[in-house]
Amino acid sequence: RPRVLSGIQPTAGSFHLGNYLGAVRQWVALQETHDAFYMVVDLHAITVPQDPAELRANTRLAAAQLLAAGLDPERCTLFVQSHVPEHAQLAWVMNCLTGFGEASRMTQFKDKSAKQGADRSTVGLFTYPILQVADILLYQAHQVPVGEDQRQHIELTRDLAERFNARFGDTFTVPAPYILKETAKIYDLQDPTAKMSKSASTPKGLINLLDEPKATAKKVKSAVTDTDTVIRFDPEEKPGVSNLLSIMSTLTGTSVEDLVRGYEGKMYGALKTDLADIVVEFVTPFRTRTQEYLDDPETLDSILAKGAEKARAVAAETLAQAYDKVGFLPAK
Ligand code: TYM
Repeated sequence: RPRVLSGIQPTAGSFHLGNYLGAVRQWVALQETHDAFYMVVDLHAITVPQDPAELRANTRLAAAQLLAAGLDPERCTLFVQSHVPEHAQLAWVMNCLTGFGEASRMTQFKDKSAKQGADRSTVGLFTYPILQVADILLYQAHQVPVGEDQRQHIELTRDLAERFNARFGDTFTVPAPYILKETAKIYDLQDPTAKMSKSASTPKGLINLLDEPKATAKKVKSAVTDTDTVIRFDPEEKPGVSNLLSIMSTLTGTSVEDLVRGYEGKMYGALKTDLADIVVEFVTPFRTRTQEYLDDPETLDSILAKGAEKARAVAAETLAQAYDKVGFLPAK
């Protein structure tokens, strides 16, 4: 079985619809066909200030949501990044192979540090993509299911894997991004030219999966579209309508063409009302399931402990090979 690996940050509150459609949904599908490793990236989370108690709660909340979304600990390895110390260890080696200029070109770092003010950004935020490189290479992943905003980090991973292999001999699998065209980028419902994002979207443009379903339905119904009236898929001219069609298509499994045919002669209101129902149908059981996992933290923690053990077995082996290739003296 080919291997996949991916990660998600433990954000406050809940995941948003972009996280789910852009990434987590693919994780659920890939556990059936791939040897799958998925993690909650708490080491990445502390690149910006975190309240310790909240971080711990959000890490459990993230794991609960991943299980609620359909990850099955019998079919995949689900773990917390900080439980596997090899991530930080390999990241150091990768830091020492990355050019300063190369790291400076990471657009997500540039965006985030610009927002925070350069003086307030940490060195951790700067080397964040290099920790991600280590995450992926430790598991010899063939594919990395993510949204479009992570593509550059996967490119960096490929570059560093090739660089390490060329310098020290074949060690790492060079991974490919796994990005589905239709859901690569889910847009803000109020500004359909901007990515849906926890930090940038206005509350009305952001669908949080754990919000009150009624509030969610309202947000969908008040999504920004355009002054035209025809329902067709045209991301350039009609970004709002196209975003709604992409979301509907993915949640229902109906192709965009079939949806467009079905809405011929209908108004935007019909599309929005239907989509609101579809989203509510998805989030309602998702909330219940998430709460069930949260109500049983012992089970949750034991799933994560088992996951960490499985992950560590793989990560330790890769790290040992990398340390050996680099020329570190064995400890025994
Ligand atoms: P994070 O936590 O920001 O996002 C988790 C996943 O959600 C995707 N995503 C979106 N997809 C489509 N449309 C959107 N509007 C949207 N917003 C978010 C992201 O692309 C991502 O796949 N650095 C990563 C976490 C990470 C990781 C890794 C990923 C750490 N190590 C190793 C893969 C492999 C991040 O911050 O994702």
